[in-house]
Amino acid sequence: MVKQRVLSGVQPTGSLHLGNYLGAIRTWVGEQYDFENYFFIADLHAITVPHDPKALAENTFTLAAMYLACGLDIQHTTIFVQSHISAHAELAWMFNCITPLNWLERMIQFKEKAVKQGENVSIGLLDYPVLQAADILLYQADLVPVGEDQKQHLELTRDIAARFNFQFGLPEQPILKVPEPLIRAEGARVMSLTDGTKKMSKSDPSEQSRINLLDSPDEIRNKIKRCKTDPTRGLAFDDSARPECHNLLTLYQLLSGQSKEAVAAECAQMGWGQFKPLFAEATIEALRPIQERYHALMDDRAQVEAVLRQGKEAAEEVAQQTLQAVKDALGFSRSL
Ligand code: AMP
Ligand code: TRP
Repeated sequence: MVKQRVLSGVQPTGSLHLGNYLGAIRTWVGEQYDFENYFFIADLHAITVPHDPKALAENTFTLAAMYLACGLDIQHTTIFVQSHISAHAELAWMFNCITPLNWLERMIQFKEKAVKQGENVSIGLLDYPVLQAADILLYQADLVPVGEDQKQHLELTRDIAARFNFQFGLPEQPILKVPEPLIRAEGARVMSLTDGTKKMSKSDPSEQSRINLLDSPDEIRNKIKRCKTDPTRGLAFDDSARPECHNLLTLYQLLSGQSKEAVAAECAQMGWGQFKPLFAEATIEALRPIQERYHALMDDRAQVEAVLRQGKEAAEEVAQQTLQAVKDALGFSRSL
């Protein structure tokens, strides 16, 4: 049986946190053997907001090391850097010319990020989801595992694919595969440690709001000690009046690898003073093997470089095929 194709990416814009891990990368790793996988580092997306040119290449490299440290297996997975494959930017241009402007103006993430940029919002920030559509459609992906916040971008990708197929393909011979989002309920939306109604985010100015995958045991204990809770004794899931409680129990459940029922029973009578150390140690233990592998890889940079070189070659082959099919459909002359 032919395996379905999975593709996803993360931007190299700072440390990965538990939201990135539990919302996205853990799903990639856990399900990689069932699929043919393409995971990339979205460095073209990282320049849609002001960035530091001195840090971009190193952040790209460390994110690749982190993908491997989290458990991606290159026997089953192609790992590559978006900007190494020029087809991404080329296809994004072609999609720009068939995507109505008002589809982009509706994007929630654009509106949120645009507010932060004030007068300096770039065309690239508005165009970000079109590039994302190109990333996905180039590889004819069946499934795209992401966190909940990317759902709207996936819908736009599906709309662009359908529009392209309708305008330039034949009904019985679509040029682009229309992908499905893969959003696992648990971990899809990890919330901030300082406000259980806001998602955990790289761009939150407070370090206290998130646990990074590379945080030391002491940093983890301190962040958890000071995280926001509530005055109620006895901890329970799914109480909409207690968003922090639900978030922390869910994190504990996922990181300790227990069932929801087991955690609900274990914590039903607990106070925060008893729960927090338990949660901190579970987090430290879950991150320990990832951190160990990460540091070993950073001591062996040649290994990571080889993975990216190999990934570029494999990804390029697939990307070029789709790009050529799109150019043919649009009527471009073939280069001689
Ligand atoms: P980004 O950091 O925006 O490049 O996001 C990388 C991946 O992590 C995407 O699949 C996001 O949906 C996912 N992600 C980011 N923040 C969270 C969060 N707080 N909860 C769950 N998933 C998240
Ligand atoms: N926009 C995604 C994010 O911020 C990153 C991304 C870029 C992506 N291209 C993609 C995710 C293609 C999935 C598929 O998380």
